[in-house]
Amino acid sequence: MAKLNFGGVEENVVTREEFPLSKAQEVLKNETVAVIGYGVQGPGQALNQKDNGINVIVGQRKNSKSWDKAVSDGFVPGKTLFEIEEALEKGTIICYLLSDAAQIALWPTVKKHLTPGKALYFSHGFGVTFNEQTGIIPPKDVDVFLVAPKGSGTSLRRMFLQGRGLNSSYAIFQDATGKAFERVVALGIAVGSGYLFETDFKKEVFSDLTGERGTLMGAIQGIFAAQYDVLRSKGHSPSEAFNETVEELTQSLMPLVAENGMDWMYANCSTTAQRGALDWWKKFRDATKPVFTELYESVASGKESQRSIDSNSKPDYREKLEEELKELRDSELWQTGKTVRSLRPENQSTKPEEQNDNVENLFKKMIDEHDPIR
Ligand SMILES: NC(=O)c1ccc[n+]([C@@H]2O[C@H](COP(=O)([O-])OP(=O)(O)OC[C@H]3O[C@@H](n4cnc5c(N)ncnc54)[C@H](OP(=O)(O)O)[C@@H]3O)[C@@H](O)[C@H]2O)c1
Repeated sequence: MAKLNFGGVEENVVTREEFPLSKAQEVLKNETVAVIGYGVQGPGQALNQKDNGINVIVGQRKNSKSWDKAVSDGFVPGKTLFEIEEALEKGTIICYLLSDAAQIALWPTVKKHLTPGKALYFSHGFGVTFNEQTGIIPPKDVDVFLVAPKGSGTSLRRMFLQGRGLNSSYAIFQDATGKAFERVVALGIAVGSGYLFETDFKKEVFSDLTGERGTLMGAIQGIFAAQYDVLRSKGHSPSEAFNETVEELTQSLMPLVAENGMDWMYANCSTTAQRGALDWWKKFRDATKPVFTELYESVASGKESQRSIDSNSKPDYREKLEEELKELRDSELWQTGKTVRSLRPENQSTKPEEQNDNVENLFKKMIDEHDPIR
């Protein structure tokens, strides 16, 4: 484990140089890694481990699209793909990658198969941290740890195939065998992490729930909607409002921030943009900080986890979710986004005359359908 300096603060991290794949393969050579669940994280983690030479099997309920996907991804029923309980029995390391709500429902079955010396692996601190709400209390004689990739399972797989890696946090909740550290780090490397940073279960879940409700998803949609509405109410077209709110950010600026940081982006934009951004960012920080504080407290008090468990366990969960998503999908902002995306040259026909025709038709359609404000 290396100590690296992050903006003046020292942190424990593990890099691929100090813990190469060959070391991970050595640590895991006698293990059977059972990935339970083939939803979003399951495929990314299972396929990356398989391609990295780890002995991995998948546990997934049958008669499900996820089972079919596992088969089409190359897992073989009866050899490397099993019903959940059979995989739980065979695995020495159980990667518990069902949805957080399903983890609660299946816990009694999982617990039955956690014999001494096995390891229980999570990709989220949720179940263990909020154990009063989830009932997930692991037996004392198994290792319990997590590797939480900081991104979607889809990105984990895509980046692996591109020779890149998604950063992950790791944490040890319980070290029953004395081997928890090498096991968890080996798994972190095997699933395709970039570098691994140390955390604990509570910090992982508090930061994760805050992040997804905040800048990663909730806050960003809120800020998009607020700016778009103001521009539209002042007479700007959907195209102008969308391009100034979303398209320029996702297509042009964020890739530059990802590559070089915010200071570089500020240094390399127009002086007019630079002056304005430097003058206004602190005002936005001060306006939103109370909301972020309220959010963090709601996470820490267990209110957010309870709300998530309650709503995701309802039988009509998927229908209710679909209604809420439909509201977003049908909003002018995201309908405009759909049209704007279709106009990107890479999404268009290659013939210029067809392109012009498409553009005219699409703009006409856009104006006909989405101009309710003016
Ligand atoms: N989404 C991400 O990219 C991401 C990122 C970082 C960490 N994580 C964490 O990784 C873990 C897995 O998340 P995920 O998003 O991959 O989960 P997900 O896609 O929601 O997982 C769905 C899996 O759970 C199974 N499942 C659902 N209900 C079930 C039930 N009642 N009985 C048996 N199986 C059931 C599904 O099978 P069917 O298809 O048959 O329903 C599928 O295999 C979670 O702890 C999550 O917090 C996720």
